[in-house]
Order: sequence, then C-alpha cells, then structure tokens
Amino acid sequence: MNGDNVLDVHDDLSARVRYYECDVTDTDDVNTAVDEIIGQWGRIDILVNNAGVARVGFFQERSPADTRREFEVNFFGYQRLIRAVLPHMRAQETGIIHNMCSGTADTGHAGLTGYSATKGAIKAFVRSLRLELRDTDVSCTLMIPPSTNTGMTAELEYPEWMTVEPEEVGRTLAEKIYSTEPVITPDMTTRIGLSLTRRFPFLWRRMTEGTVKNSE
Ligand SMILES: NC(=O)c1ccc[n+]([C@@H]2O[C@H](COP(=O)([O-])OP(=O)(O)OC[C@H]3O[C@@H](n4cnc5c(N)ncnc54)[C@H](OP(=O)(O)O)[C@@H]3O)[C@@H](O)[C@H]2O)c1
Repeated sequence: MNGDNVLDVHDDLSARVRYYECDVTDTDDVNTAVDEIIGQWGRIDILVNNAGVARVGFFQERSPADTRREFEVNFFGYQRLIRAVLPHMRAQETGIIHNMCSGTADTGHAGLTGYSATKGAIKAFVRSLRLELRDTDVSCTLMIPPSTNTGMTAELEYPEWMTVEPEEVGRTLAEKIYSTEPVITPDMTTRIGLSLTRRFPFLWRRMTEGTVKNSE
C-alpha cells in the first residue's frame, strides 16, 4: 500500500487524522486496523469503502486470476470492512457505510469485464444489505463518481473532456459524507450523465470505443 498522500494530511493535521495501513484482501489486517481505531478513538461513525483495482484488457487476454484479484479487492475487500465495523456501528446505534460503485455496473465497459462485474456485484450486495439494515440506525450507500483522472483511468485513452480531476470529485463527495441516500453522486452533471448512458447504451459505446486497444 502507498499512503504518501494520506501521510501528508496526517502530518498537517496530526490531532485529527491518523493513518492506519490495511490491505483489504487480508482479513487479519482489516480486523487489526479496525481494532486499533476503536482502541484509539472509541468508535467508527463512517466507513468509506474506496479501495479499487481495475485490470485493463479484453476478456480473452485476461486470466481468471485477474478477475479473482479484482473481486478480492473491490467486492470481498468491502465485505471484510463491513463485517469488521458493523458490530460497532450497531452497538453505538449510528453509522454510515459508503461503498464506491461505478456507472459500469449498469453500462459495462469494453476492456473492463472483471472490474465492471465487481461493481455490479457490489451494487446488488449493498442494495440487499440496505434492506437488511432498514430497521437499524446504520445506513449503507452507493457512491458513484464520474470518470475521474486517477491512476485507475491512466491506461484508458479517454479524451480530456471525459474525466474530472480527483480533487474536485473528492471535495464534492466529501460534502455529502453525512448523506444516507441510497445512491450518492457528486453533482447534477454526473447524475445526468449516468442516466443518459444507462438509457442510451449507444452513447456510452461511442464514448468508450477505442479507449482500450484489443490486441487481436
Ligand atoms: N477513476 C474513475 O474514473 C472511477 C470511476 C468510478 C468509480 N471509481 C472507484 O473509485 C474508487 C477509487 O478509485 P481511483 O479512481 O481513485 O483509483 P486509484 O487512483 O487507482 O486508487 C485506488 C486505491 O485503492 C487502493 N487499493 C488497491 N488495492 C488495495 C488493497 N488490497 N487494500 C487497500 N487499498 C487498496 C489503492 O491504494 P495504494 O495506492 O496504496 O495501492 C488506491 O488508494 C475505486 O473503488 C474505483 O472503482 C473510480
């Protein structure tokens, strides 16, 4: 794991920010981090499941291990964190669990078969868990950012207009950190974009064709 960005914030705001390293594919690591947080702060009010990996390449060029790795981080990783924090949130009678999803859960994306499948799986899982938690004080949401100019999209040949800068997306989503809406998007533009690409698949196909090269 590379915590350089968080460590900068940690140094600036050391009374309010702590950095705990945690590999979400390792159950012991997850439980240790959550125990340390509870030990130090006494409670966890909000979990943001944000970790993600995407292996870019057409399905036939990818191995089953690629997809398994994506599921280990993007799906089972989220479940590990939720299992670890849920008892604390239920006991303290408050909590919000945000889970980073993606428009690809609905539209798919050539070259991202495994990644899109993990996002579809997390979407169905969160919707089901939300139903199970409806009579509790714990909320479970899906956060859907737009295409963002991060390491994850670096391999995709998106035109500049198609991606938003991560600082902007992070700031607008942070403003909604207390939201318990079932689906949270940073802004109206993202909401309209998601709705249009869901309703008109040819738009998404046009926007994304050629962004991943098929070696065949
Ligand atoms: N970028 C987009 O266009 C886009 C669109 C929709 C949804 N999303 C979602 O937004 C979230 C953030 O993605 P991003 O765009 O910011 O991608 P990113 O720059 O590649 O960041 C991914 C993050 O996941 C962490 N991570 C990966 N494997 C991990 C593991 N085993 N344990 C703990 N942390 C792990 C990475 O930590 P290290 O840096 O330490 O490796 C990194 O901080 C993801 O869930 C992604 O699916 C992104």
